[in-house]
Amino acid sequence: MFRQPFRRLTTTALRAASTESTSALSAAESLNPYGLRVSSAQGVVESLTGAIGNTPLIKLQKLSDETSCSILGKAEFQNPGGSVKDRAALYVVKDAEEKRLLKPGGTVVEGTAGNTGIGLAHVCRSRGYKLVIYMPNTQSQGKVDLLRLLGAEVYPVPAVPWENSDNYNWQAKRHAERVAKEDEAGAVWTNQFDNVANRRAHVETTGPEIWAQTEGNIDAFTCATGTGGTLAGVTRYLKDVSRGKVRCYLADPPGSVLHSYVTSGGKLKERTGGSITEGIGQGRVTDNLAQEVGELDGAVHISDEKSIEMVYRCLDEEGLYLGASSALNVVAAKEVAERLGPALLCLKTAQHVASSRRCSLEN
Ligand SMILES: Cc1ncc(COP(=O)(O)O)c(C=O)c1O
Repeated sequence: MFRQPFRRLTTTALRAASTESTSALSAAESLNPYGLRVSSAQGVVESLTGAIGNTPLIKLQKLSDETSCSILGKAEFQNPGGSVKDRAALYVVKDAEEKRLLKPGGTVVEGTAGNTGIGLAHVCRSRGYKLVIYMPNTQSQGKVDLLRLLGAEVYPVPAVPWENSDNYNWQAKRHAERVAKEDEAGAVWTNQFDNVANRRAHVETTGPEIWAQTEGNIDAFTCATGTGGTLAGVTRYLKDVSRGKVRCYLADPPGSVLHSYVTSGGKLKERTGGSITEGIGQGRVTDNLAQEVGELDGAVHISDEKSIEMVYRCLDEEGLYLGASSALNVVAAKEVAERLGPALLCLKTAQHVASSRRCSLEN
């Protein structure tokens, strides 16, 4: 009963406009000659990077019915490079430009498990920069091939821990330093893990989009972390705009230390097991995450079995083709909904997940 007002609001917001009055439309919307809602919000963008962000929220019908909560997924696969990482890619390149580290023809170097690289490849090509990628050789061949197709120079290197000087990130840093000495167009290691321009992308875009799209009717947000940029940035924005009311949860796969870190209040960094998911899970608290880790309301630990089952549920029940990391976010949203649902007697409940399908099971 108590959730009914929100359910009505959500349905109203998403319903086809043919039966709605124009007064329900936002300033950026109108009805076309056939009575269907059209939006001019995206407008004309000046270049490919203008098409990054402003992705829709998709209601997951079956899971929402099952939990009596509105579970919404942010369709990050609609970004030009196909993942949430396009946002970070754009912001770290803009950061380098603002610091005057790059001239036309300059070189961007990054260590990435793939999706940031794919985002960077699009951003760099559209802005006239070269791109060099170092990645652990445990990642899918599909991502290596796509990066090369997009014009990047790719170095798959042995997967060794962060503490080892041959870790792919340190190799990327050294490569950028070498090129910067030789090429006057400049070179930069964009350092997505600890460059907080990454987090800023989500403070300035993902968080505000979610708040605007739900008209502030959101009770909780959850997503997994790689660099921590998405979770930290969205958490910062939603906590600020809701004066702390939106609850934010880390979703973590096996093999990552962050679940234990968050649930122990920063005392433990336990790593158990491993995961088939790519690009998520972390062995340390990055600078991006460090800024907001104290703001989190908790963490959920999601097994690979549950993520794989959810890949197929999303496909069978919703027609959504997601990768394992996105499916993990959906499982986490369901668990957060179940955890908060009965307790939120008078509140409206919506869980949000950041989605991307780049990291698919087949990759
Ligand atoms: C598919 C996918 N989802 C999520 C993430 C993690 O996002 P963030 O780095 O903002 O924590 C990554 C990171 O590479 C990714 O590839």
